[in-house]
Amino acid sequence: MALIPDSFLTELQYRADAESIIRSYVQLKRSGRTLKGLCPFHGERTPSFFVYPETQSFYCFGCGAGGGVINFIQRIENLGFVEAVNFLAQRVGLPMPEETDDTAGRLRLRILEANREAARHFFKNLSGEGGHQALDYLRSRGLMAGTIRRFGLGYAPESWQGLTDHLKHRGFTEDELVAAGLTARGESGRCYDVFRGRVMFPIIDLRGAVVAFGGRLMGEAKGPKYLNTNDTPAFKKSRNLYALNMAKSHKGDQLILAEGYMDVIALHQAGFGNAVATLGTALTPEQARLISQYAAEVVIAYDADTAGRRATRRAADLFDQIGLRVRVLELEGAKDPDDYIKKRGKERFAQLLSGSQSATEYEIARLREQHDLNSGEGKISFVQAFCQLMATLRSPVETDVYVSMIAGELGIAKEAILASIADIKSRKQREQAKKIDRDLHIFAEETPSRREDPKRAIHRRAAVAEDRLIRLMMKNPDYAERVAEQMSAHEAVTELNGRIFKAVFDKIAAGETLHMASLSASLDQAATRHLSWLLATGDGVAEGLTEALDYVNTIKAERARAERDPTESDSKELQDYIDTLKKIKRQSGGNQYGK
Ligand code: UTP
Ligand code: MN
Repeated sequence: MALIPDSFLTELQYRADAESIIRSYVQLKRSGRTLKGLCPFHGERTPSFFVYPETQSFYCFGCGAGGGVINFIQRIENLGFVEAVNFLAQRVGLPMPEETDDTAGRLRLRILEANREAARHFFKNLSGEGGHQALDYLRSRGLMAGTIRRFGLGYAPESWQGLTDHLKHRGFTEDELVAAGLTARGESGRCYDVFRGRVMFPIIDLRGAVVAFGGRLMGEAKGPKYLNTNDTPAFKKSRNLYALNMAKSHKGDQLILAEGYMDVIALHQAGFGNAVATLGTALTPEQARLISQYAAEVVIAYDADTAGRRATRRAADLFDQIGLRVRVLELEGAKDPDDYIKKRGKERFAQLLSGSQSATEYEIARLREQHDLNSGEGKISFVQAFCQLMATLRSPVETDVYVSMIAGELGIAKEAILASIADIKSRKQREQAKKIDRDLHIFAEETPSRREDPKRAIHRRAAVAEDRLIRLMMKNPDYAERVAEQMSAHEAVTELNGRIFKAVFDKIAAGETLHMASLSASLDQAATRHLSWLLATGDGVAEGLTEALDYVNTIKAERARAERDPTESDSKELQDYIDTLKKIKRQSGGNQYGK
């Protein structure tokens, strides 16, 4: 539609916060994660107008107005899309793309330049005066000079202005340094260095750009042990992995995933150049996908404490969902890989690596620890937990291997265990179906788009599955990529959703981010309204990739059904629907969407 570059819309979305913009027109009251007020688009006395900061969208349950912040301005200022973008850009002080060529792109570039210069500065500090303390620290952790150089480690002295001044002399503005997360602005407006008194770990992306930093306090100084750059226009923590820039060119099809910077560096130094780590957060689905692009197998080598075990289980689940082979290391007698290599040496680590268990074996070992297999009761609860685990496996062969093993060991009939697994699986399927049916039930009352898209009434099951899938993708944009591999937009059964799928898949294919600003640029008004309704509703149940792929299957099945016999189309459902509509009409005179 509009010829506004996506990068610009992304920048606008980032700066023109829906809550504060809408607040200047509507009095809003916070209730939980949403805001509520009287709709400016129709007269009302009780508020049915909602703003959703998480998705940067709004929706009115009274009149059905909805969209992103740009649509809000369009409607309230009575402007076209491009004019509304212009209006908002002016309001937040963002020059329009014609005026500079690409503001957001330029800022990103400046941040990367500032980071590179900062990394150089930190590295130089190591050999400058005052640097010996940091160098001693790194050496005491067993790092050799070559390793320090290869990872570009450095030192940020205990000073408030050192880096900020240095970079300002080099022509960077305070705004650029603050945007880069290198400098912070105090209440008085005075700028100071974010990283002070820390050894510095530059984070380098796949193109070789310094995108962020981690900084560790030396020894036992007080304060958070590690400080990491927050997300900036040039860096998203959830999409990067420490040392992937090096590990990606490692031979072989395996990556090792550790928890910490120091683990990764120790592993590389010991010859395991395929180690990577997350950046101070739990593994994200995006990172799991990233790993799967560079490896056929991942070995999880997290810390050997309770937190590490929990994180291992979650990470193994994520990898399992995207179909990556997982193995898990048990670091006996050490707290993390760094410690293990120091205590036992690299040969022992290599042995550990080659003998590492599959994720399922690891889980079974955990279950064994949790249950007393010498008592009858313990055995029963163990088998129950074991069956739950088996019900999540995809491969029947794998299931069979473990079931045979456990059946033999505990002296239980294999058939009994298999039956119990089948039971759990079919219960799960029934729950899925119930979820869709529950939506079907409230469907007629809830969806305001029924007039714009009559197919929604005819193919309700498909509509519900599509609705749920779109919500899920908006919440987890990285699942959208997987969904796009499994279906195409024209497979959607209903009209409005079909257009939304197309817009979403187009963005994904172009490598762009999914958000209201860019989506509403490529959607018509009816579809935008429908999308904002989707974001405003839903049961809030967190769903994963498994559910997403299940919805894809439902949609395909419903499409096949609709094509086989378009007239058959749920005549019973249709009758129910008409009945419900009549009932609502009788109750409220027609213009009520529930909620
Ligand atoms: P660890 O506490 O296990 O640190 O945290 P580590 O990497 O083993 O470091 P050393 O050996 O004590 O120096 C693991 C990772 O969690 C993040 C960092 O990314 C760290 O590497 N973390 C930890 C933080 O972001 N902040 C913290 O305060 C602590
Ligand atoms: Mn650690």
